[in-house]
Amino acid sequence: QTKIVKIDDVKKQDAELQQAGEILRRGGLVAFPTETVYGLGANGLDGEACAGIYAAKGRPSDNPLILHAAGRDMVDSIAAEVPELAEQLMAAFCPGPITLILRRSRLVPDRITGGLDTVGVRIPENDIARAMIRAAGVPVAAPSANLSGRPSPTTAQATARDMDGRIPLILDGGPCRFGVESTIVDCTGERAVILRPGAVTREMLEELLGKGQVGLDPALVGAKTVPKAPGMKYTHYAPKAPMTLIEGEPSRMGQAFACEIQRLRAEGRRVGIVASREVLQELGGLIPAELAADYGHQGDLPAIAANLYEALRSFDDKPADVLLGEGTVGTGLGLAIMNRLHKASGFRTIHA
Ligand code: TXA
Ligand code: MG
Repeated sequence: QTKIVKIDDVKKQDAELQQAGEILRRGGLVAFPTETVYGLGANGLDGEACAGIYAAKGRPSDNPLILHAAGRDMVDSIAAEVPELAEQLMAAFCPGPITLILRRSRLVPDRITGGLDTVGVRIPENDIARAMIRAAGVPVAAPSANLSGRPSPTTAQATARDMDGRIPLILDGGPCRFGVESTIVDCTGERAVILRPGAVTREMLEELLGKGQVGLDPALVGAKTVPKAPGMKYTHYAPKAPMTLIEGEPSRMGQAFACEIQRLRAEGRRVGIVASREVLQELGGLIPAELAADYGHQGDLPAIAANLYEALRSFDDKPADVLLGEGTVGTGLGLAIMNRLHKASGFRTIHA
């Protein structure tokens, strides 16, 4: 019932993109690739159409949607004002994996803002995404295209797994380049504040804006406060079996995994592992292939980010009843990876 259309060439496949634009204009839903994760799109100026997103995902209605623009020109219709800080960020990082929180214009439907007077605005870099938004002719509201609480989809197949039968069309642009959701930066105050870390790193923002000019939402660094991005308070990115994260010195990881695997096995549990190739090699025969997911080489943060959600989702079909995940460094892209791993594991951690 859900059609998956592969897009290899945006120029040659204009007819397919126009059809997606038409579905969106008429109030329907289309899932589409971005450079971060797949999005579930609706006409962002149509509250009724956006209500369909909440229904298809099972998403709480107080969790606001971000609006996707095809270019800088579309941003002016969505934002009441674009402060200098936001102009600077857009010039440096847009199109790209970043979402700016701005004061919202009156065109933005109340339905999608969760009662806030702000709106998230993102200009994706993926050319299929931008061509689709241009074809729709309106900003496109889009959360990640997963069922609420599940890891975000980074392929059309993972999108279909969650959305099959719920939407008419998925545009297949292959696997997403970055694999974790955009960096969310609140631009409504004096200085930039990161509400969700992503591929535009804190270090990249500091290089542009200056040291000390980039804050982190306290909820991201473990403080028991309500996060400013409403969606960050929900259980998220969760694989089907409960996961514990093992953090610490890379050279001690293999040993820490081996200990924990033995302890859990003694309790009669079937242990699945989400870890680097190095740790899986070190564990050797201790873990059968059907219970292991390799997320890339230890320390290769771009690869780990790109593979992480598929690795978590692979346990949909693996016979594990408990998972152990391997942590990374917490700087650069590692901040985004560790944020997702902490949420996926409900903050259960062991130190290697
Ligand atoms: O990379 C991405 O951002 C992907 C792709 C599809 O663009 N989209 C995405 O959307 O991750 P979603 O809905 O899964 O996550 C958006 C996050 C949620 O945690 C939401 O609560 C937060 O952004 N958010 C939306 N509007 C906000 C606002 N006005 N103020 C603060 N946080 C906001
Ligand atoms: Mg999401």
